[in-house]
Amino acid sequence: MTADDILREMGLGPVWKLRATPAAAPVEESAASSPAAFPSVQEIAPACVTAVDAAMTWDELATTVAACRQCRLCEARKQAVLGVGDANADWLFVGEGPGAEEDQRGEPFVGQAGKLLDNRLAAIGLRRGENVYIANAVKCRPPENRTPAPEEAAACRPYLERQIELIRPKLIVALGRPAAQTLLQTEVKIGAARGKLHDYRGIPLIVTYHPAYLLRTLLDKAKAWEDLCFMRRTMQARKGG
Ligand code: URA
Repeated sequence: MTADDILREMGLGPVWKLRATPAAAPVEESAASSPAAFPSVQEIAPACVTAVDAAMTWDELATTVAACRQCRLCEARKQAVLGVGDANADWLFVGEGPGAEEDQRGEPFVGQAGKLLDNRLAAIGLRRGENVYIANAVKCRPPENRTPAPEEAAACRPYLERQIELIRPKLIVALGRPAAQTLLQTEVKIGAARGKLHDYRGIPLIVTYHPAYLLRTLLDKAKAWEDLCFMRRTMQARKGG
């Protein structure tokens, strides 16, 4: 089986070749269709007022998130999207925020980007809901699918933190720059951050491209495959082979 066949099976093919005069290099990835950079952490509101009890159960967390009004994203949402999957999963995938279909259906990654995510999971023998949990950095849809603002990401972060405490995954995969920056609380450039093992409070964390970015970009698909292999190797090592 060739590399092209593998990429096609992942839903990442066909592989396009650059023409003699290449177009401008793709902007560092963002899930949003406009290439707005994620704001620096220094800009993030210093005081986050979202109250999440350290003993909060899944049910309490779900009720709190559903009723959350800590930032302006609540104004236009149809519903908050907490996450989906196995509450004791080894794998946690974190995206940016719900889009229109996710807002409508109440589940993360159910649109085009979600189909690609499911294909990427299948490529390493995973299925949504089976030892996998999928969440987002922000739980409410940013209007026009824009990148979440720093104060929105900061207000929502305690929910993600509580989810991670409850799930206790063996590996976290940050899908795209906003997810990576929210989790790592530092400026991230995907090109520099991918291929390395990061740490979220003692849990290994891998940064990779957001599926929406891969849908738009032709150049980074082989790298996305490398990232999948790195994830699988890391999990195998965590489980002891
Ligand atoms: N993009 C995301 O980051 N999350 C979703 O749930 C859907 C699209």
